[in-house]
Amino acid sequence: MLRYRLEEQGNGIDALAMREEAMQRPGPHQILVRVHATSLNRRDTMILNGTYPLTPRAGMVPLSDGAGEVVAIGEGVARFAVGDRVTGSYFARWVDGRMHPGVVDQLGCTLDGMLSEYALLDEQWAARLPDHLSWQEAATFTCAGLTAWSALTGAEIPKPGQWVLTIGSGGVALFALQFAKLAGCRVAAVTSRAEKADRLRALGADLVIATAETPEWGLKLREATGGVDLVVETGGPPTFPQSLIASQLHGRIVLLTVQDQKGRSIEIPGAVYQRSLVTIGRVFVGSRNGLEAMLAAVATHRLRPVIDSVFPFIEARDAYRHFQQGDVFGKVVIDVA
Ligand SMILES: NC(=O)c1ccc[n+]([C@@H]2O[C@H](COP(=O)([O-])OP(=O)(O)OC[C@H]3O[C@@H](n4cnc5c(N)ncnc54)[C@H](OP(=O)(O)O)[C@@H]3O)[C@@H](O)[C@H]2O)c1
Repeated sequence: MLRYRLEEQGNGIDALAMREEAMQRPGPHQILVRVHATSLNRRDTMILNGTYPLTPRAGMVPLSDGAGEVVAIGEGVARFAVGDRVTGSYFARWVDGRMHPGVVDQLGCTLDGMLSEYALLDEQWAARLPDHLSWQEAATFTCAGLTAWSALTGAEIPKPGQWVLTIGSGGVALFALQFAKLAGCRVAAVTSRAEKADRLRALGADLVIATAETPEWGLKLREATGGVDLVVETGGPPTFPQSLIASQLHGRIVLLTVQDQKGRSIEIPGAVYQRSLVTIGRVFVGSRNGLEAMLAAVATHRLRPVIDSVFPFIEARDAYRHFQQGDVFGKVVIDVA
């Protein structure tokens, strides 16, 4: 069995090593999953580069996101049977309710993740996948999908006709766009690359602004929409002030990116916020129950994720390189086989 391990955190892609290892057997309440595909999230590059806030376990198997088939079950397993199609839950021990310090363990960080031909999971750490998704599609929901879902449904769900603002073309932003359309909302999308505007419109965005051409896009959006109701803020320091300007008086901003990759933090423009009653909230991905609720909606609407590119398992390092350069449209997937 082949799997990657992160030999040394903070050492970049060179620390990713592929190893031949012995097959594992599921113990009580464990399932053995034949992983067919996995995908990358921004946190995976942060873990690689030593900038992620949670310290990873030394030598862990990277990546939270993956999809596969249960090939063996241990004694007492009740949630799954051999042949079931499953994906992992990001905060493996967070089943429901509010996040608390006892459930911070994450797949692909403090627990072994999915960049492996086989993954051994506790049966509580997984969720069943919708049938209509290919393995590559199914491997994209654990982090980016659930984060977007939580941003939209975690507090007050935006009403049909209200405006949701998405930032850029990464995994979270495109899932947020798709889920907002499912909820009957109107979507404004900003992108730093004008050439992506048509693809955002094709996904359902009602209004698209290229930030390079319109640096004061917050005001333009506010005028065009009457004020955005919910911002899924994935841009961080360069976009946050404009997101605040774009928001309606009682708007909400779900702040997902607090610092940029150089460690610069968001700044709240006091003169703007003084005139605003915007609520700034945060989410940490989501619980397993949230994951299951999202997958139920995905199944009902036969929603398919946007895949930027697919790399073979033996070229996983190239997938990281491609993802790291930043110009993506949707999810970067690694096909395990
Ligand atoms: N708190 C949480 O639970 C949580 C969970 C998941 C992710 N996150 C955070 O959410 C962010 C998004 O993650 P991700 O995995 O979806 O993708 P990502 O790889 O960080 O996003 C890539 C996209 O960001 C856009 N972008 C870059 N610079 C921009 C700028 N100056 N203005 C506007 N857009 C810009 C680009 O889109 P364009 O080319 O279209 O501009 C690019 O396609 C990350 O910062 C991540 O750490 C937080």
